[in-house]
Amino acid sequence: MESAEIVELCKRHTLWNWSSRNAVNPLPIARAEGVYLYTPDGDRILDFNSQLMSVNIGHGHPKVRAAMKAAVDTLIYAYPGSATEVRARLASKLASLMPGDLNTFFFTLGGAEANENAIKLARLKTGRHKILSRYRSYHGATNLCMQMTGDPRRWANEPGSPGFVRVMDPQPYTFSFGDTEEEQTENNLRYLREVIEYEGPHTIAAMIIETVTGTNGVLPPPKGYLQGLRALLDEHVILLICDEVMAGWGRTGKLMAFQHGDILPDIVTMAKGMTSSYIPLGCVAMRDHVAEHFRENVFWGGLTYNSHPLCLATALAVIEVFEEEGLVEKAAALQPLIRREMRKLQDRHPCVMAWRNIGAFGMVDIQNAQGELISGYNAMHPKMSELAGFFRKEGLFTFVRWSHFMVNPPLCITEEQLLEGFDIVDRGLQAVFEGGRV
Ligand SMILES: Cc1ncc(COP(=O)(O)O)c(C=O)c1O
Repeated sequence: MESAEIVELCKRHTLWNWSSRNAVNPLPIARAEGVYLYTPDGDRILDFNSQLMSVNIGHGHPKVRAAMKAAVDTLIYAYPGSATEVRARLASKLASLMPGDLNTFFFTLGGAEANENAIKLARLKTGRHKILSRYRSYHGATNLCMQMTGDPRRWANEPGSPGFVRVMDPQPYTFSFGDTEEEQTENNLRYLREVIEYEGPHTIAAMIIETVTGTNGVLPPPKGYLQGLRALLDEHVILLICDEVMAGWGRTGKLMAFQHGDILPDIVTMAKGMTSSYIPLGCVAMRDHVAEHFRENVFWGGLTYNSHPLCLATALAVIEVFEEEGLVEKAAALQPLIRREMRKLQDRHPCVMAWRNIGAFGMVDIQNAQGELISGYNAMHPKMSELAGFFRKEGLFTFVRWSHFMVNPPLCITEEQLLEGFDIVDRGLQAVFEGGRV
């Protein structure tokens, strides 16, 4: 099929994430390799977002493709009550990779299912029902995950199930808890302590955080926040769930982002990068004290595709690639390169207000003539749409949302390819903002 026909039929017969059908203008993709996507017409597009911040090892890795084919020839599916070699291998591999006593795993099909089951585990383990989460967060599109999600995708999904309490992040969108990171941490945690008292600590099962906030800002926690939060929750015997669906699997330069804070969550959820999105898979990792509870007590959860052999075999192959190619270390090494290029953008373009990155997880904020973010909360300035259009025309795929655009390339990207991407960004800012601000 040609591009136009593919787009027309997809639009005619399918629904799209978070969009009305008429509003979408999908990119036709025929194949992908390494850091590049190819349209059916043969146009090459640099993937500066690892698709949905998830194709961490790059596209179409031959080793993973071969492992998937071998898995198809061995065992595609076994019901979740079975013990399979691939389940034994992946679970023990994960136990050796995860820090501390995160030794037990429940496999799902994606991030939302992982978060749903994390809540279930926390509630069953503690006998409490409330879940705390933060406003600048996204945790998935299922009903409970939508209630934990703070960003505007929640609004149309309300009212939801009771028992969800959302709190301000240490770095809210416009309000500030302080000028320094230490102040932000201290004041936010003082505020959180008060919220916990108002809610009744004995009613709160867990707090869930994106360890590094993803879509809502690429926000690494301010200094001391993770340690302070861990201590505050411990004081009240509230479990800490780290959602590492986007930030995990090397994206930030550590295998898991919470390792930057030197803390151990009680429960960790992951998906995306775990299979590099070659196949759907999510996972809930839990510490021994959580897993022990379910030795005698029933885990009231189940999925037809829990521990799907083909998905697990893919994860194993992806982990091998991570290790052989040193991709976590590569993400850490990308950090200064991406910073250097973002700094250059800020030097050259007055419209660049701020930028930040941790590992290969980055975002640039665009400002208006008044020095404020160019788009309001949940709004998109026409100039940002124009910038997105330029990127697409010039062969760069990345997320442009509200006042920001993202830089989340596959972790295998070379410096040359990175510069190719930043060159398009540079030209885009010049074309749209013409060396000024609007
Ligand atoms: C931090 C975070 N949690 C959960 C999810 C939900 O994952 P999924 O779309 O696989 O259900 C996402 C997806 O983008 C995410 O970024």
